[in-house]
Amino acid sequence: MKPVVLITGSAGLIGRYLVRTASRWAPDWAVRGLTRADVDLTDLASVDNAWRSIQPAAVIHCAAISRTKDCEQNPELARSINVDASVHLARLSEHIPFIFLSSGEVFDGKTGWYSEADVPSPINVYGKTKLEAEQVVLKNPRHTVLRIVLTAGSSENGDRSFVEDMCRVAKAGKDVTLYADEFRCPLPAGAIVRVVWELFGHEQPGLYHLGGQDRLSRWEIGQALLPWYPELMGRLVEGSARTHVGGSRPADLSLRCDKIQKLLSFPLPGFRSWLFARAHRGADLWDYQAPHS
Ligand SMILES: NC(=O)c1ccc[n+]([C@@H]2O[C@H](COP(=O)([O-])OP(=O)(O)OC[C@H]3O[C@@H](n4cnc5c(N)ncnc54)[C@H](OP(=O)(O)O)[C@@H]3O)[C@@H](O)[C@H]2O)c1
Repeated sequence: MKPVVLITGSAGLIGRYLVRTASRWAPDWAVRGLTRADVDLTDLASVDNAWRSIQPAAVIHCAAISRTKDCEQNPELARSINVDASVHLARLSEHIPFIFLSSGEVFDGKTGWYSEADVPSPINVYGKTKLEAEQVVLKNPRHTVLRIVLTAGSSENGDRSFVEDMCRVAKAGKDVTLYADEFRCPLPAGAIVRVVWELFGHEQPGLYHLGGQDRLSRWEIGQALLPWYPELMGRLVEGSARTHVGGSRPADLSLRCDKIQKLLSFPLPGFRSWLFARAHRGADLWDYQAPHS
């Protein structure tokens, strides 16, 4: 019998990619995905029951309220899943590997190019909840926190990734405003899950940053997508985060990724080069291939 790795949030963008790619990147493991329909992770008694029945030997924890806007609108709910449920799962995982997907939003975005040594200073509810959970997770020397960034990819209902969001708005005949003064290092979900599986295999716990090689403004990201997503044509509008109405948004969340890169068998891609490779080599969205692999 293979040991079981439990993947929470398996109906979400990244959790779904993890489940779909497990047989390739972690063939010695049996994968058990957990959706909200299976277990509401804020119901801690139900989590305990599921835990006893599944008996995982490792956990990759993806479930979260992952949209900053949703966290601002419902901070209690955000706290209960992003902090309380995460802490509970980390405690259940006391003696096994546990990978917690966190976010660059733990930083205020004033300087950019953050390394793992930089002191976090979140400015929104999402970032605060992620940081609070991180601090508990990292107390266990077997556990890992992986801070990731803006993720491209396809979801079951086409409503999870930022690319899907942009295309949906454009297809509805509306303009997509993209801030030219907000910077991220996007990565495709296929690349993120390949990194997660390699990290999982290495069993080198701790704190890691994971982002793409290209630091791009939201506006530049939109321009990079245009050749491959014709539905965006004529719909992208350049804007400024200074006009943003709503929760606080960190300006520059570029991440230094040298630490994780040293563990990986492939170079982390830039967003533009990934788009190009995908279009020209027909790279499978589920199965990210590095340029030299
Ligand atoms: N995607 C990004 O750009 C990005 C960037 C930085 C960090 N992250 C982090 O990476 C992780 C995965 O992100 P993602 O993009 O895959 O997020 P996602 O698509 O929003 O998936 C999160 C999953 O968590 C589930 N969930 C929420 N509340 C739950 C509850 N009470 N009980 C059980 N399941 C619950 C959601 O269920 P439903 O399907 O029912 O909603 C969803 O399937 C998250 O921790 C996120 O914060 C993501």
